[in-house]
Amino acid sequence: MGPGLNVGFMPMGVKRNMDEDNVLVKVKSLKKYFPVKMPFLASLFTKERKAVHAVDDVSFEIKRGETLGLVGESGSGKTTIGRLILRLIESTSGKIIFEGRDITHLEGESLRKLRPKMQVIFQDPLASLNPYMRVGEAIKHPLEIHNIGKKQERKEKVLDALEQVRLIPPEDFYPRYPRELSGGQRQRIVMARALILNPSFMVADEATAMIDVSVRSQLLKLMKDLKAKFNLTYLFITHDLASAKYICDDIAVMYLGKLVEVAPMRTIYTSPSHPYTKALMDAIPIPDPKQKRDRLILKGEIPTPIDPPSGCRFHPRCPYAKKVCSEREPEMKEIEKGHYIACHMF
Ligand SMILES: Nc1ncnc2c1ncn2[C@@H]1O[C@H](COP(=O)(O)OP(=O)(O)OP(=O)(O)O)[C@@H](O)[C@H]1O
Ligand code: SF4
Ligand SMILES: [Mg+2]
Repeated sequence: MGPGLNVGFMPMGVKRNMDEDNVLVKVKSLKKYFPVKMPFLASLFTKERKAVHAVDDVSFEIKRGETLGLVGESGSGKTTIGRLILRLIESTSGKIIFEGRDITHLEGESLRKLRPKMQVIFQDPLASLNPYMRVGEAIKHPLEIHNIGKKQERKEKVLDALEQVRLIPPEDFYPRYPRELSGGQRQRIVMARALILNPSFMVADEATAMIDVSVRSQLLKLMKDLKAKFNLTYLFITHDLASAKYICDDIAVMYLGKLVEVAPMRTIYTSPSHPYTKALMDAIPIPDPKQKRDRLILKGEIPTPIDPPSGCRFHPRCPYAKKVCSEREPEMKEIEKGHYIACHMF
């Protein structure tokens, strides 16, 4: 385990003695380093191999039926965490526990059997759907791949899934092509396709980012309703802090491959503690800028995750940085129940 986190660190307000059954997803000291491709000639003259430290020693857990929001600037490693948990990419090190089982190195038939339980909704529904496949067929496809049900049964499941995502009457939507739907409706099709396999875990990666603001709230409400109805657990990855506020139980803030603060949603919005979280919250537009003074404005851009800054990775941009900040990496500490923070000020 790398510096920064204690063995067994468990954000999410989870008591150490709590029933493990209550936890659906747990990641422990997860790392993903992507090797940087070097020009052939340069690679002949150096043995040093650089890597993008996309996810660097991240630990958290998500309780069943809850939504963890993962927020942070572009390039901070949010999507990579989602892909690691879904086992779409291999981790460099660390552990992924799902339903109490270590799935980090699962492969073959065992991994295939796990796939239906974990689904993902990406940002662009048009890119997620085959333009030449009628939407009914697209939703049915996973049932065929996993050999679930007979022909008539499959069709009934598809019609039911369409109803669940409020595309009514479902018979009207079944024969349409993706181009014959609005953006919001297409994302509902993607949700129906994910739901059809009866998953327990859903990664929503900027799932509402491309949807018109006017229908975004309806989609978020639908996601919330589906969560309650099917006891789903979400990892909700977003740039949109307003959406996160609506749907998330807890928020994890990421900066350059590391978690910097994890807390219940209300705490993050009312009393963010980490300077980076404060800056993110202060960047939310407010109707009357005069209402809020002393805003913490982020300077510069997120540095490259190849050779990240020493000590606290946020130190080159942090207005409170002291000498120790560039020398030593801050450990994640629980400053109040369920509120974790990695900063030398605490
Ligand atoms: N397959 C890959 N090969 C090399 N580097 C990668 C790969 N995938 C991601 N990265 C790098 O890892 C870092 C984290 O990327 P990631 O997509 O996880 O960020 P993100 O937080 O989801 O950003 P965004 O908000 O823009 O979606 C970035 O520097 C990215 O360039
Ligand atoms: S550890 Fe130092 S640099 Fe990092 S956020 Fe805290 S005060 Fe700022
Ligand atoms: Mg992303």
